[in-house]
Amino acid sequence: MRVFHLAAECYPVAKVGGLADVVGALPKYQNQEGLQAAVVLPYYNRKFVQESEFDVVFEASNLLGTKRYEFQIWKERTNKLGFELFLIYMPGLLDREEVYCYPDEREQFIAFQLAFLDWINWSQQKPDIIHCHDHHVGLIPFLLKYSALYKRLANTPTVFTIHNGQYHGAFGYDKFKYLPEVDMNHAGLLDWNGAINPLASAIKCCYKYTAVSPSYLNELEYQSNGLEYLFWLEKARGQGIINGIDTEVWDPAGDPMIAAPIQAGTPDEGKQKNKAALCEHFGLSPDLPLISFIGRLVTEKGADLLPQAFQNSLDKHAGKLNIIMLGAGDKETEAALEALKEKYPVNYKTFIGYNEALAHQIYAGSDFLLMPSRVEPCGLNQLYALRYGTVPMVRRTGGLIDTVVDFGDEGGYGICFRQSSTADIEHATDRALELYENQEHLQLLRKRMMALDFSWNQSAQQYINLYKSLKPNI
Ligand code: ADP
Ligand code: GLC
Repeated sequence: MRVFHLAAECYPVAKVGGLADVVGALPKYQNQEGLQAAVVLPYYNRKFVQESEFDVVFEASNLLGTKRYEFQIWKERTNKLGFELFLIYMPGLLDREEVYCYPDEREQFIAFQLAFLDWINWSQQKPDIIHCHDHHVGLIPFLLKYSALYKRLANTPTVFTIHNGQYHGAFGYDKFKYLPEVDMNHAGLLDWNGAINPLASAIKCCYKYTAVSPSYLNELEYQSNGLEYLFWLEKARGQGIINGIDTEVWDPAGDPMIAAPIQAGTPDEGKQKNKAALCEHFGLSPDLPLISFIGRLVTEKGADLLPQAFQNSLDKHAGKLNIIMLGAGDKETEAALEALKEKYPVNYKTFIGYNEALAHQIYAGSDFLLMPSRVEPCGLNQLYALRYGTVPMVRRTGGLIDTVVDFGDEGGYGICFRQSSTADIEHATDRALELYENQEHLQLLRKRMMALDFSWNQSAQQYINLYKSLKPNI
């Protein structure tokens, strides 16, 4: 079965968040199960691309409005990621360094989708499934069905996965001119609330859609930035499939980015060594409990709550608690988090920016990882924390509900709280410190969480079953 995954991000080519981790891992596991899964990304002028070798396998040009763009399809030569990787290179639009936030982002992603369709159409390929991830590639299901240009491919089943239902990629009808000729009798399928809405269109036109956790699938009906009614209507075609983690990249016993291996059966020695190295790096005492935060500093992650919550906890437990914060995003939140350093120079450290290796070291060396998310479709941080023997402190939402059981409940191992509020974060912090006092209990929880299996094996199989339901003869 030949599957194309299309997305804006893929680890290690270009990563902003968890979307990259999923697109970089799922196809690899699907291939291990006998599929022929490939990934198609926009070209990015980044380290991985500069350091890898590519062949140009296709060249053409297409029209975006009245402007003609030349494009090439580049294929990574060695399949070293465990899948075929294709990049679409289009000078002037798809040749940049950053993944998002260019003023002509809409044009970029429309051009990406059209070039992909032109490529597989003109090169006479016949994929069995086209699997699109998030709104950046949300127009594909519509275009396949309702543009005469792609008639040959019109019956190709499409699967659309929602990693983040808050962002829709909507744009005004002034950009309609960028689309190829489409069947105007069905143009309403592009629309939501008077705008072209790629996420809404994908939900309406794909064969099946998935959300990255069962709880998030339910939440979309009452928390999706204006698409609630649509999700209610279309629920029958939706399925929640929890993300897995790439256990080769996130392997506490063999991770080259961390100070010492952590063994699942006997984690304490490895944890201690990693904590000592991390604390030394930041100039913290390793004898105190260490709570960390890693993530994009946006309201969905509850990042705006952190400055006040940290301040309250650092005051309440003065000199008895250390905190490390790794993240970047909203400038006001960054400034507020930085400003706290002056007040608590001994117990509070930050790294504003993106640092993959440091993230691994923080998962490995912390005692607790805080995630006060307002919205968390799946969340991978808590899964990495669990695998590295770090107790997740999570708000009960989305995928955090499906993956973390409170240590007060039978078989539990995490700390859960109900509200995204400073009060709930403080209460969770109090519980974390109490737990830390009882090292024997903490050690037991560590073993319990490290024995959990959040690998891709099961979830990759669920996607395969979904594909098979759409393409039964393969
Ligand atoms: P989201 O995709 O919403 O950002 P996830 O929990 O799914 O959230 O995934 C976040 C991913 O990005 C994880 O791999 C996490 O380690 C990583 N990450 C987030 N912020 C940073 C950062 N500042 N430095 C390094 N890694 C980060
Ligand atoms: C999104 C979500 C996150 C999820 C990730 C991968 O970025 O915010 O919760 O884990 O996608 O699916």
